[in-house]
Amino acid sequence: MRAYTPETITDAVIEQMSSTTDPRLKEIMACAVRHLHAFAREVNLTPAEWIKGIEFMTKVGQMCTPARQEFILLSDTIGLSALVNIMHDKTKVEAATSASLLGPFFRENTPKFAPGEQIAKQADGAEIVLFGRIVSAKGEPLAGAQVTVWQTAADGRYDIQTDASTMDCRGIFSTDHEGNYLVRTVRPLGYYIPLDGPVGGLVQAQRRHGMRPAHIHFLISAPGYRELTTALYIAGDDHLEDDVVFGASGDLVAEIKAGDPACPISGLPSIRFDFSLSRESMADKLGGRVGADPGQITAGDVSTAKPYGGAPADMAAEAAGKKGILSGLFRSR
Ligand code: BEZ
Ligand code: FE
Repeated sequence: MRAYTPETITDAVIEQMSSTTDPRLKEIMACAVRHLHAFAREVNLTPAEWIKGIEFMTKVGQMCTPARQEFILLSDTIGLSALVNIMHDKTKVEAATSASLLGPFFRENTPKFAPGEQIAKQADGAEIVLFGRIVSAKGEPLAGAQVTVWQTAADGRYDIQTDASTMDCRGIFSTDHEGNYLVRTVRPLGYYIPLDGPVGGLVQAQRRHGMRPAHIHFLISAPGYRELTTALYIAGDDHLEDDVVFGASGDLVAEIKAGDPACPISGLPSIRFDFSLSRESMADKLGGRVGADPGQITAGDVSTAKPYGGAPADMAAEAAGKKGILSGLFRSR
């Protein structure tokens, strides 16, 4: 009988798993075991710390519902989602608009809107217009491209955070024959990621601010082109450089301009941004998205599932103090 040592156990595990028939599963699990063991050796992981880790992951799992994906949130806050997204983005076959995180608030079955229709149920005096073109990497207009948009409502929350049974501030638009899209919406707000669960506890233990800069999500598709998951980040936001989920990047920062003569709806502030799509490769068809509608991962009734809660009172009060606004959420103008 062999006796395992901290040095020999890793190879023994990998050897036993070597009968795995799926080659990619075999590669991923061998590498995961190698890195996990190296991590345990490096930090000299104690039994008490090991069980704490197990308890944490258990709580993360228990927090997941059809309206909430705590594992994606964990992946986001440790930069894993951003890493996978950036690596995937580098595999596109043509230079095009860069990708950003899908996030946990994306929802399937988003309603369709006509060009220029308002997606927010309550505009609350904060209307803006989004317009521009969807083009190929060569600059050719993509007619009939599908542009899905979602963002916080005027109160700074996603619909799924307040009432998972309805949809608000999200919509699907189509481009016209010249590739133009036109969306009427409200100014997005910088916001706390959901901090009321185990991931929020970890973020607070790390003394991080827990905020994302104001942004608007886009999911853009056209036949023959790689689906683009991206977002526009609003110029001037305080957290462009220290986004808690590492999604913001300089090339996706957009300015809200007043009185742009090119804006098809006059009298409203607007963002003009052209998105370019890379041609789709064979590999893209299998690539997938970094993120998903929680309802597609956890089965159940979304309308009765416990959604995300808000930021803890002390953090909300601190942010409010900084911005001089009494609500815990604030506008980034
Ligand atoms: C979002 O942008 O919606 C988001 C992304 C990651 C974590 C939380 C929210
Ligand atoms: Fe978001």
